Amino acid sequence: MPLDLSHLIDPKLVVLTAPRSAAAEQYRALRTNLEFLGVDGPLVKVMITSGTPGAGKSLTSCNLAIALAQAGKNTILVDADLRRPMVHHLFGTGNLSGLTTALTRPEEWHKYVTHGPIGGLSLLTSGPIPPNPSEMMSSPIMTELFSQLGQAYDMVIVDTPPVVSFTDAVALSQSLDGVILVVRAGHTSRKVDLKGKERLTQVNARILGIVLNDIEMNDEAYSYYYGYGDRKP
Ligand SMILES: Nc1ncnc2c1ncn2[C@@H]1O[C@H](COP(=O)(O)OP(=O)(O)OP(=O)(O)O)[C@@H](O)[C@H]1O
Ligand SMILES: [Mg+2]
Repeated sequence: MPLDLSHLIDPKLVVLTAPRSAAAEQYRALRTNLEFLGVDGPLVKVMITSGTPGAGKSLTSCNLAIALAQAGKNTILVDADLRRPMVHHLFGTGNLSGLTTALTRPEEWHKYVTHGPIGGLSLLTSGPIPPNPSEMMSSPIMTELFSQLGQAYDMVIVDTPPVVSFTDAVALSQSLDGVILVVRAGHTSRKVDLKGKERLTQVNARILGIVLNDIEMNDEAYSYYYGYGDRKP
């Protein structure tokens, strides 16, 4: 019988830990919006990023991936934040191997994928941190790996570092179908958020929409507002 490791899961993964909460409902709404956007063209590989650190990218990526898996999508969550990887912390799993190891043996990438806490959710944690994350993000091997992941899964959700601090996410956007930008209410200046968006549009990344994180609504501890389309943050 498999070990029950559910106590290691961070309670902030509310889609799993508090499915009836307002925040969990907002993540499911985000999932629904994403599904509708897929009508306009292939939308399998989706990156979550932000202008500045601490916006809520990792929480958004993990909760969205859980919501997608719960809706029956065969989903893989990839931690491409090689600066401050969080996926293994949030799910309480190991990180001895992962994305960076898969890149050294791309033909065996599936060996580094682990099962998430629910059926239909796979995890590719960051793996050991390399000295050259930016170069890795723009390497042809990375593009090839994501291409294979895109063929193997219904949805590939990718957590990344912030755009304004590092070039990683901008480079990675070229291998993916679309980008969700997370903006944390009252946390960053509008100017910095716009700068992040600009860097992505300069390389023709498809910006799918903005998630406005950490807005208090109805006295709930976590509340999220989401927007899609051509809205400006
Ligand atoms: N809506 C929220 N309410 C309360 N705490 C939040 C909320 N969103 C994020 N946090 C907390 O803020 C911190 C940063 O969140 P998270 O790690 O998801 O951000 P990030 O954008 O991935 O950060 P980084 O740039 O370091 O990768 C975490 O401690 C997280 O639990
Ligand atoms: Mg993060």
